Amino acid sequence: MSQELINWSKKNYSDLPWRRKRSLYNTLVSEIMLQQTTVGTVINHFDKFINKYPTIEALSKTSEEEICIAWKGLGYYRRARNLRKAAIGIVEDFQGKIPLDFEKLKTIPGIGEYTASALLAIGANKKALAIDANLERVLSRLYRISVEKGPKLQKELKTLFEQGKFFKGRSDLNWRNLNESLMDLGRVYCQANKVDCLACPLSKDCAVAKENPLIYPSKLKKVKKRESNDLELLRVLVKKDNLFLAYKKSENEWLSGQKEFPTFILKTSDKSLSQYPYWDGQVNLNLKSLKKFKTGITKYKITNYVLEISEEKWKKSFSCGKRRFFFVNPDSKDENLSTSSTKAVLALNK
Ligand code: ADE
Repeated sequence: MSQELINWSKKNYSDLPWRRKRSLYNTLVSEIMLQQTTVGTVINHFDKFINKYPTIEALSKTSEEEICIAWKGLGYYRRARNLRKAAIGIVEDFQGKIPLDFEKLKTIPGIGEYTASALLAIGANKKALAIDANLERVLSRLYRISVEKGPKLQKELKTLFEQGKFFKGRSDLNWRNLNESLMDLGRVYCQANKVDCLACPLSKDCAVAKENPLIYPSKLKKVKKRESNDLELLRVLVKKDNLFLAYKKSENEWLSGQKEFPTFILKTSDKSLSQYPYWDGQVNLNLKSLKKFKTGITKYKITNYVLEISEEKWKKSFSCGKRRFFFVNPDSKDENLSTSSTKAVLALNK
């Protein structure tokens, strides 16, 4: 294992916001942010989040709604709720100190195998491997491991690591640097569908650099193609002065806790979808004349149509069902308005 790898990573990526000032808390936040979000996006949000919540205690005292507002732009809001739960668990069960023990870490709500390993390796520079998709790919290539990608490969990598099969002859390894540099390598030179072995600082140690690295890690034979569903939604904009009618999304709805304009399903290829009421012709619609914009959530590709109507017409034509509506200011960040609602206002004004 070459020192060149670590030198390359330090030279180019030491300045990532979560690497400038180290603490276990900063690592907890950054690792949860980085789990389903690119480095480029996290760069834009990390410092702001840490300024708002500088300590575990501060985070443990926030409400679910507040943390979701601070998480805006990072997506996958379940992580924000889990991060809050983790902070509460750490304050209640560990006096606010993140424990440096793998098993104890895993008892904390919201902390799984990956985050526990990352806290040890990256947060505390202890011997551990945080096996994310990058490490899975890089190690399967570096050591030519043919196990199928996914949980099986992760388990195999963990076993080989514990048996001392990786990084042989390097007793002086800095575990933080090693983990981070392997992640950087996976992101930059050793991507899933593109490699640059000539530039890679590890290529002379790599078992597959002279073959076709792209066939590692091997994919599941019967890859079930991820279903994608087309969805057409109607976003109803009821404007009063500069305010718009909205409702708050409840616990088991997409984007729970956020506010959203009244929304109806116009058309869907998934008949089981129950996130919104179905449109039943409350007012005449000419879709071709409406402004529209595209969004996506989970497996749904959404075409959003924007209908502006008066408050009077809204009151006359729409029964509220179980939703409670109120007026919000779409320009206020404190409102926690969903991105699609903000886009609806923009589309309308285009
Ligand atoms: N992906 C996950 N954790 C990371 C980290 N600490 N640095 C860069 N990429 C990452």
